[in-house]
Amino acid sequence: MHSIKVLDKEFEPYLSEKEIQEKINELAVQLNKDYAGKKPIFLSILNGSFLFTADLFKQITIEAEVCFIKLASYKGMTSSGNVITAIGLEANVTGRHIIIMEDIIDTGKTLHHYLPQLASSGPASVKIAVLLNKKEARQFSVNVDYTCFEIPNKFVVGYGLDYDGLGRNSKDIYQLK
Ligand code: IMP
Ligand code: MG
Repeated sequence: MHSIKVLDKEFEPYLSEKEIQEKINELAVQLNKDYAGKKPIFLSILNGSFLFTADLFKQITIEAEVCFIKLASYKGMTSSGNVITAIGLEANVTGRHIIIMEDIIDTGKTLHHYLPQLASSGPASVKIAVLLNKKEARQFSVNVDYTCFEIPNKFVVGYGLDYDGLGRNSKDIYQLK
């Protein structure tokens, strides 16, 4: 792995495809156990979580559904003021077990704003699975149930994560130099 350039910024290798896939497989094993017989709905938050969701969902062997919503609060490298629901929830989540799939939790704002909305639909349970957890950056409290990697407060791209729309199509994850 070598450094890459996305727009005006240099990024260096941080997590390899192999490390990422191993953690996702471990998470799938755990979820297959924890949700056996519960027919959970994996609720993926677009855009960043699409690869994480796809790779994890392929390893889910129990009965399960997947659906997608689009929330956005980011522009460039900083979180913008508000959280917009660009694509809403189609699935009926009332009485269902929900596993929210997030690529990364940074300030926590996106989920902090969205969780009460989801709760108002009356799900049986809501848990959060996240690929990358930037704990040091937290400004809004969010209880994360499943974490693949705890990472420092540095901007990352790749494996679904972007810098101004670019860099998502990389199998590895890179960190800002
Ligand atoms: P939060 O609302 O601040 O927790 O931010 C959540 C969203 O911001 C994530 O789902 C990502 O889409 C985006 N985000 C946060 N940190 C990064 C990063 O380091 N690289 C790319 N996107 C990020
Ligand atoms: Mg995201």
